This record gives sequence, C-alpha cells and structure tokens, in this order.
Amino acid sequence: MGASSGIGLRVAEELASRGVMVGMAARHTAPMAELQKKYPETVVYESIDVTRTDAPRRMKNLITAMGGMDIYFHVAGIGYENLGLDPQREVDIIATNSAGFARMICCAYRYFRDNGLKGRIAAVTSVAGTNGIGRLSAYSASKKCAQTYLVALEQLANAENADVTFTDIRPGWIRTPLLRDDVAYPMEMTLDYAVPLIIKAIVRHPRVAVIDWRWNLLVGLWRLVPNFLWTKVDMEISKPDFSLPSPGKEPFPNTALENKEKREV
Ligand SMILES: NC(=O)c1ccc[n+]([C@@H]2O[C@H](COP(=O)([O-])OP(=O)(O)OC[C@H]3O[C@@H](n4cnc5c(N)ncnc54)[C@H](OP(=O)(O)O)[C@@H]3O)[C@@H](O)[C@H]2O)c1
Repeated sequence: MGASSGIGLRVAEELASRGVMVGMAARHTAPMAELQKKYPETVVYESIDVTRTDAPRRMKNLITAMGGMDIYFHVAGIGYENLGLDPQREVDIIATNSAGFARMICCAYRYFRDNGLKGRIAAVTSVAGTNGIGRLSAYSASKKCAQTYLVALEQLANAENADVTFTDIRPGWIRTPLLRDDVAYPMEMTLDYAVPLIIKAIVRHPRVAVIDWRWNLLVGLWRLVPNFLWTKVDMEISKPDFSLPSPGKEPFPNTALENKEKREV
C-alpha cells in the first residue's frame, strides 16, 4: 500500500523481479501500470486512496486478484514541514498517516484472523514517531499513532490467538519524492542503500527495525532525553533551515517553500 512512488515502488520492483507475487496499490496508477507491463506474471495493482471509505473493498479485490496474501506491507504516507501550522495541512497528514493507516492495517489483520491464516503485517512508520518534533508536528504525531496502533493490534492478536506478526520499520531520511529536492536533510540515505535494509526487515520480521544503524543510535539517545529538556530543543529539519514565522506576521503561511521565497525577495 503506497506502491506508486519512492520506497513502495522500489520494494515492489525488487520483489516482482525476484518472482514474488506483488499486489500494488496507491492513488496514481501510471507507475504501477508500468511495472505491471514489465512483470505481467507477478504484478497486479489497484487504485486505492487510504483516506476513502471504499479503500477496504478495493483492497479485498486486490487480494482476490493476487490469489491471497501472506504479507501486508504498508508504506502509504505523506509528510512535510508545516511551519505555518496551516490547519488543513496538519489534518491531511493525520487523515493519511493515522486514519488511513488504521483503516488499512485493521483490514489486513482481519483478513488473516478471519480466514485463520498465518500472516505478517509490516509497516513503514518513521524515526519521527519517537518524540514530538516541532517542525513536523502532525507528521511526528501521526507516526507515533501508527506505532502505537501496531502495538495495540499485536496485543489483540495474542489475546485472540491470531497467527499474525507485526514489524514496525522506522527509517530516517531517505531521498524520495517525499523530501523537498531543494534542501538537504541530516543523515540522508539513498533508496539503493535503504531499500535492501527494508526488504531484509520485511523478510526477517523483527518487531522494530530502525533504518539504519546510525539512526538507531540517534533515536536511542532521543529516548533518553526527558520531556522538559526535549521541548527546549529547537530542532532544525533541513538545510537551509526555514525560519519560523514570527508573531504579528501572516498567521498561516502555507508552506515552508513560501517562507523561503519571501526570504529570498
Ligand atoms: N522518505 C523518507 O525520508 C521517509 C522517512 C521515514 C519514513 N518515511 C515514510 O515512508 C513512507 C513512504 O514514503 P516515501 O519516502 O516513499 O514517499 P513517496 O515517494 O512520496 O511515496 C509515498 C507513497 O504513499 C502513497 N500515498 C500517499 N497518500 C496516499 C493515499 N491517500 N492513499 C494511498 N496511497 C497514498 C503515494 O501514492 P499516491 O500519491 O499515488 O497515492 C506513494 O506511493 C511514508 O509513510 C513516509 O512517511 C519516509
């Protein structure tokens, strides 16, 4: 889920090229249709928007087209710095990364449980879910929600004796269309480097996999910082940094890009 771009598209391609049956889903169908043309035997796809109520029905169709499902991999998500705290942009992130996440993960879980199947659910959340990050307020909160949802479902699976295992994959920055192409992010990784690590996590299914070891060390340190200190940190996300809007200025400058353009004028 989220297979039309970035991490999801690359994972789908890697698996399809190895003969694994792959069901791809996202809103934009062109990249998925292209991969399907390249691997007609192993790729099927369906247009799915995780924010819509018809998404579970469409996912069911996709599972049928695949002839069943062993692993559900959820990577659909959006994210950006929203320094102006535009309310709609904050809510959009929650709608996709939290509500959309719950909508699809619970369907995958029910598919395995209700059919008495052994199944795996692997989901890409983010290191941003470790603590609240000021410049990524909605994004970091949405990822924390997703991480907690996986823990909750795992507890439910144990209580219900459902044979379902969960893997929470938490990458640091990976250069994909999710990132702004005009700025640099700390400890950025390439898809060539990160995707094999992500596939390894899907296959070996540890409970949590931080991508990569440097980010694992860093978030280990973040976890030790008490809240009263954490909230004093002015954590920059990208270089060059986009200055925070100051009081008395426009209440909701829409995007960091607009801030940058204003600075440049
Ligand atoms: N890149 C990073 O640095 C990074 C770091 C940590 C975590 N992540 C997480 O990794 C995931 C994938 O990110 P990416 O970097 O590969 O970004 P990306 O290239 O922008 O890909 C995002 C994918 O999510 C899909 N998606 C977005 N909204 C959707 C919706 N409403 N319904 C269905 N699919 C939707 C997109 O497809 P459509 O637009 O076609 O629907 C696309 O396939 C995200 O959850 C992101 O938070 C990324």
